Amino acid sequence: MKTELKEFRQYVAQVGEIDPIMIDVQKAEGIYVWDTEGKEYIDMLSGICVGNIGHRNPRVIDAVKAQMDKYMHVMVYGEFVQSPQLEYAKYLMANLPKGFDQIFYVNSGSEAIEGALKTAKIFTKRTEVISFKNSYHGSTLGAVSMLSAEEFTEKFRPLIPDCRSIEYNNEEDLEKITTKTACVVAESIQAGAGVILPSNDFLKRLRQRCTEFGALLIMDEIQTGFGRSGRLFAFENYGIVPDILCIAKGMGGGMPIGAFVGSKEIMNSLNNHHPLIGHATTFGGHPLSCVAALETLKTIVEDKLMEGVEEKGELYKTLLVHPRIKEVRGIGLFNCMELKEDENNKEVDWSRVLINLFEEGIISGTHLFNSNCISIKPPLTITEEEIRESCSRILRALDKL
Ligand SMILES: Cc1ncc(COP(=O)(O)O)c(C=O)c1O
Repeated sequence: MKTELKEFRQYVAQVGEIDPIMIDVQKAEGIYVWDTEGKEYIDMLSGICVGNIGHRNPRVIDAVKAQMDKYMHVMVYGEFVQSPQLEYAKYLMANLPKGFDQIFYVNSGSEAIEGALKTAKIFTKRTEVISFKNSYHGSTLGAVSMLSAEEFTEKFRPLIPDCRSIEYNNEEDLEKITTKTACVVAESIQAGAGVILPSNDFLKRLRQRCTEFGALLIMDEIQTGFGRSGRLFAFENYGIVPDILCIAKGMGGGMPIGAFVGSKEIMNSLNNHHPLIGHATTFGGHPLSCVAALETLKTIVEDKLMEGVEEKGELYKTLLVHPRIKEVRGIGLFNCMELKEDENNKEVDWSRVLINLFEEGIISGTHLFNSNCISIKPPLTITEEEIRESCSRILRALDKL
C-alpha cells in the first residue's frame, strides 16, 4: 500500500533538507529495492554500507527467526549470560589480527565511537582527542565535537573540550599528536570526504606516532568494514593494527548493532573504573542483532565474498567512463564517481544527478563533504551481469544531464 508522502513528512521527523528522492519501500532483496508501484531499483548505497551481504539475506532471516523463538531482550547489557553475544565475540576475534580480546556491544556507530572515546580517556588519563578534517564519526555530541566544519557544530556549542582536527594524508600534521593526546580517531579510508584513500605510508606513520607518544589509535571502520575493501576491515590493507576498532552498519546484515573492540587491558579500563557503571546500554548486544551479526560474518567468510570484491570494483572503474565523470575512486566495492562540470563549466547539480539515477532505477547518494561524489557501494554479492546493468543505468542517467 502506498504511504502518503505528505503525512510521512508531517509525522516523522526529517534529518535535514528534503531529499530529492523518497522511495516508498515495498520490499528489498539482494541488491534490489522495490517501491509500492513495483518499480525496481539497484541499491548502489547498500543502505549506506549496511547491506554488504545483500538485503534480506536468508541466513540472517533464519537465524533471527530461530532466536525469536527462544528469547529476545531479557536484561540490560552485561547482566545475564547470553550465548549469541559470546558466539559472535569468539568468531569475530578469530577473524581479527592478534591484539583484540574483548568486544563491547552497542547499538550504532555513534555509540561505538562514544564508548571508544571514553575508554581512551580513562586508559591514558589524558583529555585531548584528535580527529581528521572532513571525517564524520556520528551524530552524538562526542562524535559531533570531532567534526571540523563550523557549519555542522556551531549550533551545538559548547562541545566536548580538547578536540582538534588535523589534515588527513598530511604527515607534518601528525606532529600535533603529543603526550597530551588521549587518542586519534581515524577512518582508514575517508568516507564522507568522498572516498579518500590513505596516501603512501600515511597510516603507518600515524600508527608509529601514536605508539611513540602513547596515544590510542581508534579506527572507525563503521562504513569501510565487513569486506567492502576486499579485506574484512580496510586497515588490513595498509599494514597497521589499531588499538580500538569501532564497527557497526554492515555488522548486523540489516539488524541494528555496533561495537568497539580492543585488548583486554584497554577494555578493562572502561569496565572497571567504577563498581556500578563503566559504560552502559540497555539494548547493546541484543540477541537478535547478535545472531544476525554472526550469520553476516559467517556469510562473508564462508561464501568467500571478499575474494571477488577487487575484480568487481575494477569492472566499475572500466565501465564507468563518461564525459561527466572525472574519476571513479576507491578500493574494492567502496567507491565513488566524482563528477565534473559540463563543457560550459556549469557546476554539477547533484540533486539532478540523483533524480536522474532514481528515474533509471538506481539508488545512490552524495558524500557529506563532497557532493560531486556519487556512491558506488553496492552489496558485495552483486554479480558481473548486475554490475553491467547498473553501469548502463548510471551512464544513461548521466547522458540526460
Ligand atoms: C564513518 C562513520 N562513522 C560513524 C558513523 C555513525 O554511525 P551511526 O549512524 O550508526 O551512528 C557513520 C554513519 O554514517 C559513518 O559513516
